[in-house]
Amino acid sequence: MRKTTLITGGAGYIGSHTALALINAGHKVLVLDNLCNSCRECIRRLEQLTLTRVDFIKGDIRDPVLLDDIFSRYDIEAVVHFASLKSVEESVRKPLDYYANNVAGTLDLCQAMARNNVFQLVFSSSATVYGEPSHTPIAEDVGTGKPVNPYGRTKLMIEELLTDLCDSDPRWSIGLLRYFNPIGAHESGMIGEDPRGRPNNLLPCLTQVAIGRIPELTVYGSDYPTVDGTCVRDYIHVVDLAIGHLKALQVLQHNNGIHFWNLGTGVGYSVLQIIHSFEDITGISIPYRFAPRRLGDIAKCWADPGKAGRELGWSAQRGLEQMITDTWRWQSCNPQGYQSSFKIPAPVAVK
Ligand code: NAD
Ligand code: WQD
Repeated sequence: MRKTTLITGGAGYIGSHTALALINAGHKVLVLDNLCNSCRECIRRLEQLTLTRVDFIKGDIRDPVLLDDIFSRYDIEAVVHFASLKSVEESVRKPLDYYANNVAGTLDLCQAMARNNVFQLVFSSSATVYGEPSHTPIAEDVGTGKPVNPYGRTKLMIEELLTDLCDSDPRWSIGLLRYFNPIGAHESGMIGEDPRGRPNNLLPCLTQVAIGRIPELTVYGSDYPTVDGTCVRDYIHVVDLAIGHLKALQVLQHNNGIHFWNLGTGVGYSVLQIIHSFEDITGISIPYRFAPRRLGDIAKCWADPGKAGRELGWSAQRGLEQMITDTWRWQSCNPQGYQSSFKIPAPVAVK
């Protein structure tokens, strides 16, 4: 029988794309998600896309009895751990929820893994662990900095916790994947990012303006020391990111210890460049207005993805045009996210 990969948070945005990539590569997966920021419809769509049944358990990573039950019933070889709260703004208002869910949740998960002799883990970290970078591109060897919000601090704490764990026991092999700014959606338009309530990230805000759910886009800051005064980020297609997890799992099978990999493209785009690219690609004009800088934003952030290239044999293949086309296909086919009844997408008009 094939061994199973447990995907925590696998009904969420990045987890669902990774589940799809793993299934398509022949993995047997089990999704564990408490659906606090996702829904079952995502799993149904994964089943439609893969023409297989996707094993799904609604439950919490902080439930040790459930975890032991899962590890006893399934032959789990590795865990890909996405389950986390992820709103920077909410983490400032509710830090205890973030430390309890993200840090204590990861502790519970690792303890259950150790009890059940499972020692391979891929963890969703973030470029936020670098804090304010002294220069770009950012390579792993600059070391971590000081994240500026509780969400970011949970990621750094978990990285440290997992490093200590690897140092304590050579059976562990753990990959910390530091994502830059994931955007895009699967090219089918069937799965994508479905934020609850008002989104905070740039692309969900932009597409919601484009479909008329938000009247105009607020651009935070016009006086940064960048090409046009707006912040520069390394946007990465979620399907490329998903493939990075597949590569990490392959490498971890034969390489114990702790590993750090940046998953980014190595190319930065400003907020205005993103808006204008979106307008060019979709033909939709985006009303926007400048507002003061957003607290905690850094001017420039993009990756040196060379280490992932050398050690994982991974590099991002999808450029900005595809990221925007796929984001827009998802949003326009699913104006209410997973609450929408899915329509087969018409080809996206490219000017
Ligand atoms: P998401 O909210 O779409 O997915 C997270 C999933 O975890 C959700 O389905 C949620 O229901 C589930 N979950 C949360 N707490 C849980 C718990 N205690 N038990 C079980 N399930 C739980 O977020 P995403 O964008 O897919 O992010 C996935 C991971 O990547 C997170 O760890 C996030 O911090 C990290 N990350 C995301 C970004 C980004 O911009 N999206 C960037 C860097 C890192
Ligand atoms: C990008 C740029 C905004 C919305 C965040 C987290 C980070 C990681 C990814 C999880 C910034 C500007 C945005 C808007 C705007 N998440 N913007 N108007 O801040 O780089 O990273 O998500 O780990 O930890 O901090 O991404 O998409 O929020 O912002 O002008 O309505 O777009 O100011 O310059 P960010 P973002």
